[in-house]
Amino acid sequence: MTSSAQDPSVLPAWGALRDHIATLATQGIDLRTWFAAAPQRADELTFQAGDLRVDLSKNLIQPETLELLRQLAVEVDLPGRIEAMFRGDHINITEDRAVLHTALRRTAAEPDLIVDGVNVSHQVAQELQHFFDFADEVRSGRHVGVTGRPIETVVNIGIGGSDLGPAMVYQALSSRQGPIKARFVSNVDPSDIGDTIAGLDPETTLFIVASKTFTTLETMTNARLARSWLLELMGARGIVHSAQTAADAVAKHFVAVSTAKDKVAEFGIDPNNAFGFWDWVGGRYSVDSAIGTVLAITLGPDAFREFLNGFAAMDHHFHQTPLERNVPALMGLINIWYVDFWDARTHAVLPYAQHLSRFPAYLQQLTMESNGKSVRWDGAPVTVPTGEVFWGEPGTNGQHAFYQLLHQGTQLIPADFIAFANPEVPLQDGGQDMHELLLANFIAQTSALAFGKTADEVRAEGVAEELVPAKVFSGNRPSTSIMAPELSPSTLGQLIALYEHITFVQGVVWGIDSFDQWGVELGKVLASQVVPALQGDQAALTQLDASALGMVKYYQSTRRH
Ligand code: F6P
Repeated sequence: MTSSAQDPSVLPAWGALRDHIATLATQGIDLRTWFAAAPQRADELTFQAGDLRVDLSKNLIQPETLELLRQLAVEVDLPGRIEAMFRGDHINITEDRAVLHTALRRTAAEPDLIVDGVNVSHQVAQELQHFFDFADEVRSGRHVGVTGRPIETVVNIGIGGSDLGPAMVYQALSSRQGPIKARFVSNVDPSDIGDTIAGLDPETTLFIVASKTFTTLETMTNARLARSWLLELMGARGIVHSAQTAADAVAKHFVAVSTAKDKVAEFGIDPNNAFGFWDWVGGRYSVDSAIGTVLAITLGPDAFREFLNGFAAMDHHFHQTPLERNVPALMGLINIWYVDFWDARTHAVLPYAQHLSRFPAYLQQLTMESNGKSVRWDGAPVTVPTGEVFWGEPGTNGQHAFYQLLHQGTQLIPADFIAFANPEVPLQDGGQDMHELLLANFIAQTSALAFGKTADEVRAEGVAEELVPAKVFSGNRPSTSIMAPELSPSTLGQLIALYEHITFVQGVVWGIDSFDQWGVELGKVLASQVVPALQGDQAALTQLDASALGMVKYYQSTRRH
């Protein structure tokens, strides 16, 4: 590790990319022409990473673009940074931590990983066994509630990385759900916990308090609320009637996932039912740690193991494949191309799989909490744009909502399309396979974006001349198409790891620390100061800015109960 971060904009490859885009612009940037001139383009720009088939051919790139991006990767020492991450170097500089989410899914065939003198592989294997054993206990009915009834619903209480990953995966793999169902509560909005616990029977409900720090306001508030709810209802039924019976109820109905086991014990959770992970797993990289306990219970340890193997397959690809064929590296570098050379400010992720509807939200934390930074890891200001806004919705719903802007708007929005060859639910509409309708849309949209429709083609349809401009599609709107055989635990793990590594690649080029999140702190501190102001505390009121004071006064005069 050098003592200062690299400014990518002064590197030779950066300058060459600037010249290259100018040359392309002079020659004409046109996917129709590029496809016609190079019949092998689609084949040459389609890559395999694990089970994922990734077609990059509809991006605004030529072979020379990829060569220059590869040179950029070499100049920022991407291969060295990849090694450093997998090895456990403290590449999270501002928190002085290793970044080892890849250690969570190493296979038994790999040698033990020793970091800072600790056998990380053993630690991971032990903790995995710990929460798998607990999951088996719950699934088999050996772990029962305090009245002896089996668990029917698991409520995961967490936020950010302690919620988005498990909630997304639970939905994505709904075909693997068994009789025990999960619910998720994250927001400190009382409506969330209110909706989540509505209709639940405390005797058959298990709460998982998932929080890396075990201090997060939203999670701890919801956890206390859930505990009061449970004790109150059990009190009304005569199950809880003393400090001891209350403690027994909490011990049977609450477990925790955290790196702060001392705080877990203070909450009254049985230390045997506290599942741990480590400070080298960032919250947004933790879905494959014990944070996935809710998944091990509801989908089963076997599915969770397949999920981990999926991550491992993508890790292997990222770690071992030369940059020319390394899909996370190529996708990350192409994102740099759009953000820094095309002024793209957002990036759409469009899963043609209804069960992946929370995937874009999951990616928002992964990508934007990681790369939404204005300083490099040594504190120097960045000199180039970083951190695009990720967003998306499942196709085909998006087609009938925001795709208008993708096709004919004034902004360049690179888009990742994701689809699976096999449907989860094979249904026919008469003789028509529904999944084929979905896939036809997936494929057609990328063609429409890339190749558009010229004014002459519009005229050839007999359209009145004054309407021609409105019906022209410019084309040359970039997309990447990702396909896999099916949405399974393994392919989902591969997809998540793909985006983890894309995020890493972009962070390396920009020279930023993709593993801290200082930008979320100020709002948390200020919120704790506003609470007493809302309650009328005079000293707190004097600390507020005029706008905040106006809102507090409006609240105080308008709140009914
Ligand atoms: O405030 C941001 C954040 O720290 C995320 O990085 C994290 O995933 C989330 O809050 C939840 O944190 P915890 O798991 O410690 O409750």
